[in-house]
Amino acid sequence: MISFLWAQDQHGLIGKDGTLPWHLPDDLHFFKSVTINQIMVMGRKTFEGMGKKPLPNRTNIVLTHQPEYSADDGVIVYHSAESVLDYAASFPDKNLVIVGGAHVFASFKGIPDVLYVTRLAGSFEGDTYMTDIDFEPFDLITSRTVENDDPALTHTFEAWVRRDNHDLIEQIKRDNA
Ligand SMILES: NC(=O)c1ccc[n+]([C@@H]2O[C@H](COP(=O)([O-])OP(=O)(O)OC[C@H]3O[C@@H](n4cnc5c(N)ncnc54)[C@H](OP(=O)(O)O)[C@@H]3O)[C@@H](O)[C@H]2O)c1
Repeated sequence: MISFLWAQDQHGLIGKDGTLPWHLPDDLHFFKSVTINQIMVMGRKTFEGMGKKPLPNRTNIVLTHQPEYSADDGVIVYHSAESVLDYAASFPDKNLVIVGGAHVFASFKGIPDVLYVTRLAGSFEGDTYMTDIDFEPFDLITSRTVENDDPALTHTFEAWVRRDNHDLIEQIKRDNA
């Protein structure tokens, strides 16, 4: 299974100065639950915004065009979306979770089976917006809203699954039951 995982504000904003525009522990917890023990791929800018350190207990892949780019042990560097897909295909028991940012989502457009989007109710300041996503082939399978004392941080977790993938729809429903 290949998924996109991101959080956006009401205008599609996802980033600010190389990091997230908000601090929302509930979403970080959800991020961990989706990526743990799986294969996670991110762009070089997102990786550097996270302090250039791999997250534990999952495969960390960083995409860059720079042939000499080096990263800590525990990070796999790739130079194209195709090479990431080839790598993930050799681990059929693991999910490939594409975690952004916008350039990386654009590189894998049309590929994911599942879209996990956390929608924050507020409007934030920042510089990076989610790439356009065609939701038409997907159905909204689960949606859960969590109220916050700060109304801007009230958020809804949505899971969208390709509507022709009936097994996956049942699995996502079970996972979120
Ligand atoms: N809200 C969220 O859910 C979320 C999720 C992720 C990130 N973010 C935020 O988004 C911002 C970063 O997003 P961004 O779009 O500016 O950068 P990004 O996608 O994280 O990284 C872009 C870089 O990744 C490399 N890259 C991307 N696609 C590639 C491909 N197909 N092949 C080889 N290399 C590729 C290139 O690196 P080189 O320049 O080295 O060649 C490119 O400049 C940050 O603020 C981050 O915190 C938010």
